[in-house]
Amino acid sequence: MKYAESIIDTIGNTPLVKLNKITQEIQSLVLAKVESFNPGNSVKDRMALKMIEDAEKDGRLKPGGTIVEGTSGNTGMGLALTAIVKGYKLICVSTDKQSKEKFDVLKAVGAKVIVCPTNVSPEDPNSYYSVSKRIAEKTPNSWYVNQYDNLSNTLAHYETTGPEIWDQTDGKITDFVVGVGTGGTISGVGKFLKEKNPNIRIWGIDTYGSVFKKYHETGIFDKNEIYPYVTEGIGEDILPKNVNFSLIDHFEKVTDKDAALYTRKLAKLEGIFAGNSCGAAIKGILQLKENFKKNNIVVVLLHDSGSRYIAKIYNDDWMKKMKFL
Ligand SMILES: Cc1ncc(COP(=O)(O)O)c(C=O)c1O
Repeated sequence: MKYAESIIDTIGNTPLVKLNKITQEIQSLVLAKVESFNPGNSVKDRMALKMIEDAEKDGRLKPGGTIVEGTSGNTGMGLALTAIVKGYKLICVSTDKQSKEKFDVLKAVGAKVIVCPTNVSPEDPNSYYSVSKRIAEKTPNSWYVNQYDNLSNTLAHYETTGPEIWDQTDGKITDFVVGVGTGGTISGVGKFLKEKNPNIRIWGIDTYGSVFKKYHETGIFDKNEIYPYVTEGIGEDILPKNVNFSLIDHFEKVTDKDAALYTRKLAKLEGIFAGNSCGAAIKGILQLKENFKKNNIVVVLLHDSGSRYIAKIYNDDWMKKMKFL
């Protein structure tokens, strides 16, 4: 018989799928690592499991404890699945920018969800960074995950996602393109791939309203770069410890409108029903097309599933309201 011991044993080993139409104007073979195949429907299952396992090992997380995290949903889902299997409670703190379905899904898998305002600075006592820290301090036997600075996040991708991509391409990958939020995915995969072959280029996709690109290019943390934006999951107003800037060759910014439109195109042209940041990554590849020649093998990682964006990206009324259609 072939079966998994629990749902968390099905995390990882996601497929690599050739893009046939959406990147047609690019000469390279473009392959998508489709992370919605994870049980929580996103790449974040990988790092959630690793962060919990590492915290168990060094005693930060104790039996019957409560896991507290500031999460936009995908990390929460990964934490929830692992918490159920391992017998922990989970409190997720998020922002009102996120799709409502994400909160409903988290509640469905047993998490308590607390929603904070988006448009406040990280230092504001009502920000989701501050609220999650405060809840963790006040809840007995609790552990604050902190996916931004918890380096087990990067390690999960160094140990699983990176090696999978290397093996699936027989070591022939030349370029890795991925949206950057906490930085765990790009830094873990990037470190693994560059150790295997330092010529592999690592391309980070950023949003307008985020500090990453300017910081990477100038070393300046420019508060003027920060303003509200719509794209979910990528771009930041902080510098997470998980972003290893030295591994990243270039950051490319994609607009909210393009991210939304290309997410819809991905579903229509390739049959890949993916999330908002995936459209940004695809549009980023097209913006960077001069760099991708016939012999290049480009891997783009698609973080999550479209099911969490039905009321937004995949809803015509919302798209019109945002002036994206
Ligand atoms: C939908 C989505 N896209 C992209 C990312 C960015 O991934 P990472 O945090 O590993 O940089 C995340 C995670 O925050 C996400 O949830």
